Amino acid sequence: MDKILIRGGRRLVGEVTVGGAKNAVLPLMAASLLVDGWMTITNVPRLRDIDTFKVLLAHLGSEISGDDGNRTLRIRTRDVAVPEAPYELVKTMRAAVLVLGPLVARFKRARVSLPGGCAIGARPIDLHLKGLKAMGAEVEIEHGYVTVSAERLRGAKIYMDTVTVTGTENLMLAAVHADGTTILENAALEPEVVCLADALNAMGARITGAGTDTIKIEGVEKLHPIETRVIPDRIEAGTFMVAAAMTKGNVLIKDCPHEHLHALNLKLKEAGTEVIQEDGGVRVIGDIPIRSVDVKTLPYPGFPTDMQAQVMAMMAIASGLSVITETVFENRFMHVGELKRMGADITIDGRSAVVKGVRRLSGAPLMATDLRASASLILAGLVADGLTEVSRIYHLDRGYEKIEEKLMALGADIERVKSRETAARASKYAKAEA
Ligand code: UD1
Repeated sequence: MDKILIRGGRRLVGEVTVGGAKNAVLPLMAASLLVDGWMTITNVPRLRDIDTFKVLLAHLGSEISGDDGNRTLRIRTRDVAVPEAPYELVKTMRAAVLVLGPLVARFKRARVSLPGGCAIGARPIDLHLKGLKAMGAEVEIEHGYVTVSAERLRGAKIYMDTVTVTGTENLMLAAVHADGTTILENAALEPEVVCLADALNAMGARITGAGTDTIKIEGVEKLHPIETRVIPDRIEAGTFMVAAAMTKGNVLIKDCPHEHLHALNLKLKEAGTEVIQEDGGVRVIGDIPIRSVDVKTLPYPGFPTDMQAQVMAMMAIASGLSVITETVFENRFMHVGELKRMGADITIDGRSAVVKGVRRLSGAPLMATDLRASASLILAGLVADGLTEVSRIYHLDRGYEKIEEKLMALGADIERVKSRETAARASKYAKAEA
């Protein structure tokens, strides 16, 4: 298994380009199930979750081609052999449930393994199912799978009890072919939802209100395939912004979706970081001591839960006391134990973590526990004394494309090593440090 080795202490300087957003690509791939012809998706990053979704679509019967070089993905689904998302795929990527809506809309039936709880929380899909039931679908749960069937979905007024991103996307994907109008209330406002709605409208759907909490979908008979470009990844961009701030660096982040990062921008500025919008992107300069700030995660446009772990790494070396409250997921503090092993002073109190900034973190062998937690450990490693070794980085590869190469190009002392090389490298570093 690969590991990442980091020797901290380097200031990051230079330019980095952000890739397409994983969380926008996956619903677009699901949307391809709604049409007969070739859908073309461009600006697709090379990520493990996208590969998993490709395997899922191929399992359903889709044809997939694409050019990795120019980051284009082409998908055609003439028919589905088995309208089923198996356990083996859903357990590695919960977003697989996104096939539910389009499969029922076009093929009248879908059978999807129910995702269990995961590292960051229970994460049920009850609201996806409640919405589909309201649209007239029959929902049955048996042997760990949910089967949803409907001869024809009908428009409905659906109130989402909790703001759910993939839930909103799934119901939008289902409602495009329903009889009549569907209204989703308390819908998610995330940019990835808007990206999907824009693509569906270009395909011939009639969706208004995406980006607000009320989305209206008028069902249409037929959609047509299109070519669509994925929006840049606001979480990858945000992770580089925090990296620049923490290392007291000066980094120009190109293709940065500045308008989607309002809450993070404000927090970085409050913490003393300069965030400047330039023609080519967003420049982040972090040359003064980091001030502690309080952060509370919320659905968009609030502070993203997907940036909570990274900001906690930053607060670990800030000058005072910071309270970080996680309101979206109930167990998203898995990185705390690892940060503490580096010398961070963090106490968890229910859904809040009290972070008392320390003068220095020290490198240590660490275990990544989930996608964003992995990023936070790498950020901590960039500023820690000595060697940090992050293992289980398959989590990282689900959502960051070659983050180590991008950080290296900015001046970080970081490398990926295969497991058999790891021990030798680690001992070489230990000797160099002695
Ligand atoms: C998406 C993102 C993920 C991000 C999260 C919150 C994708 C592929 N993933 O995940 O990166 O961290 O949004 O911004 O886009 N909930 C229910 N019932 C449901 C659905 C959700 O109770 O039927 C709860 C969840 O347990 C959670 C909260 O709602 O506490 C938000 O979850 P949700 O927005 O659905 O997250 P995902 O769409 O899975």
